[in-house]
Amino acid sequence: MANMNLKLLVWRQAHSGHAGRMMPYEAHDVSPDMSFLEMLDIVNEGLIAKGEPPIDFDSDCREGICGMCSLVVNGIPHGPDRGSTVCQLHMRKFKDGDTITIEPWRAAAFPVCKDLVVDRGALDTLVAAGGYISASTGSAPDGNAILVQRDLAELAMDAAACIGCGACVAACKNASAALFVGAKVSHLALLPQGHPERETRVRAMVGRMDDLGFGNCSNEGECEAVCPKEISLANIARMRREYLRALVHGEPRTA
Ligand code: SF4
Ligand code: FES
Repeated sequence: MANMNLKLLVWRQAHSGHAGRMMPYEAHDVSPDMSFLEMLDIVNEGLIAKGEPPIDFDSDCREGICGMCSLVVNGIPHGPDRGSTVCQLHMRKFKDGDTITIEPWRAAAFPVCKDLVVDRGALDTLVAAGGYISASTGSAPDGNAILVQRDLAELAMDAAACIGCGACVAACKNASAALFVGAKVSHLALLPQGHPERETRVRAMVGRMDDLGFGNCSNEGECEAVCPKEISLANIARMRREYLRALVHGEPRTA
């Protein structure tokens, strides 16, 4: 595949209180083997060389682990590759002459800091609302001291794969955080180590979602479709069951 020339339409916004707009840029001689973020790095080098402000965007690990990269590419959070973060997206997905739109996550709970960078602190607040698990400190416990059913361990590991990127919120027409909270609630509710605080945790996390400006889930499924870790909608159903169970049991219990 030959190198490509591309047109970019990029959201530029000085800060959250400022009106933003789409600005046109060109990316020349782009290798199909480049990652999407490497392509943006090269565009930024060109802008810096011309004395223009570079495009701000978030990234860290660039290997699908940290959840920092947060770009809506051609209208899809994390771009056209299923089960992939935007840092894992390669330019071979595009054709010479394509116009690519690049926008930040759009949600009331994620205010734009600058350009393509949004504040996803609301997700951290949700996790903090869930509190800690009670675990004995000291030397590492014997691996077989707490037996965990194999299928439950697998489901818990699948839920724990959530990297907190927020694409599920950005894709949802209600900007709901139900898939994120469903993954966090499921991860601990499925394991015996998470049982002591099981009810207080789900009540607190679900209660905080509304306060933080996230919308309700209306079972659209957009969240699952864009999730780079393919977190299943079944986690939302489990969160609802956990919440109902906690409500039926009344006041938060500790055991
Ligand atoms: S559920 Fe998926 S899309 Fe949502 S924060 Fe976790 S990894 Fe990202
Ligand atoms: S930069 Fe870490 S997941 Fe994309």
